[in-house]
Amino acid sequence: MGDLKIKIGDMQLKNPVMVASGTFGYGEEYAQLVDLNKLGAIVTKSITLKPRAGNNQPRLWETASGLLNSIGLQNVGLKTFIEEKLPYLQKYDTGIIVSIAGETVDEYEKLAQALKKEKFDALEINISCPNVRTAKRMLFAQDPELARQVIRKVRRYYKKTVIVKLTPNVTDIGLIAKACEKAGADAIAVVNTFNGMAVDLKKGVPVFKNIVAGLCGPAIKPLALYKVYETSQAVRIPVIGMGGIMNFHDGLEYILCGASAIAVGAGNFIDPQIPVKIIKDMELYLRENHLGKISRLVGSLKC
Ligand code: SIN
Repeated sequence: MGDLKIKIGDMQLKNPVMVASGTFGYGEEYAQLVDLNKLGAIVTKSITLKPRAGNNQPRLWETASGLLNSIGLQNVGLKTFIEEKLPYLQKYDTGIIVSIAGETVDEYEKLAQALKKEKFDALEINISCPNVRTAKRMLFAQDPELARQVIRKVRRYYKKTVIVKLTPNVTDIGLIAKACEKAGADAIAVVNTFNGMAVDLKKGVPVFKNIVAGLCGPAIKPLALYKVYETSQAVRIPVIGMGGIMNFHDGLEYILCGASAIAVGAGNFIDPQIPVKIIKDMELYLRENHLGKISRLVGSLKC
């Protein structure tokens, strides 16, 4: 048997395959389609202090091998999440990673404070959503000092595993990742969506009201893979790789480039079985090649 177990911070997972925040709701939406117990971890849709209705339509736009989104962090808000969504997920034998987002440092701090006693495995600090305006007018993940401020505040309250989700829309992702590591992050999730846009030619206007939207799906895989490589070269803490993963080969590429775990995002919209198929193929690959542990392959790319 191949050993798929991995450890990120103090979170122990039975395998390194997660489902990415924003592509899997709060888990219950997929429970009829996938055996949730098989997943390494479920990363829930980023929650905010108050419920959010999200952006106006259109919110999704298909591109060649990709998907642009401008959801605007639609979510049920902290209270409903704690009362209804988290207890539902706790029934399953899978890692639970709760994603949080805020427009101010203060909001992240309040979320961490409110969640510190709840039962789940790790907190994902999403500082990289391109579809909402922060009070600072730039993403927290686009400035090492802003990223540091958020993590320090969250760390004051939340003592278990903290993962920070970064944007690829920066010149040097390694610099931001290092700042997060120094501020107390246990892992870095790389990457959120790439900035993109689409044009409605009939009307001569941008498709999205915000003009910019986030591109995900297979179209971004080579770009995201390089960001994972750059990040893993810059920090000692684990990296969670994501961006266009559709099958086991994609996932393995991320692992060789330095990812300790991977997350399937847009792939869930095409075939919700993709994460489970990857887990099965990963185990088979380890067994057939007598490789033992998946953790041995992390960052094993020969450059
Ligand atoms: C959104 O809700 O607009 C997308 C979330 C994200 O990219 O972090």
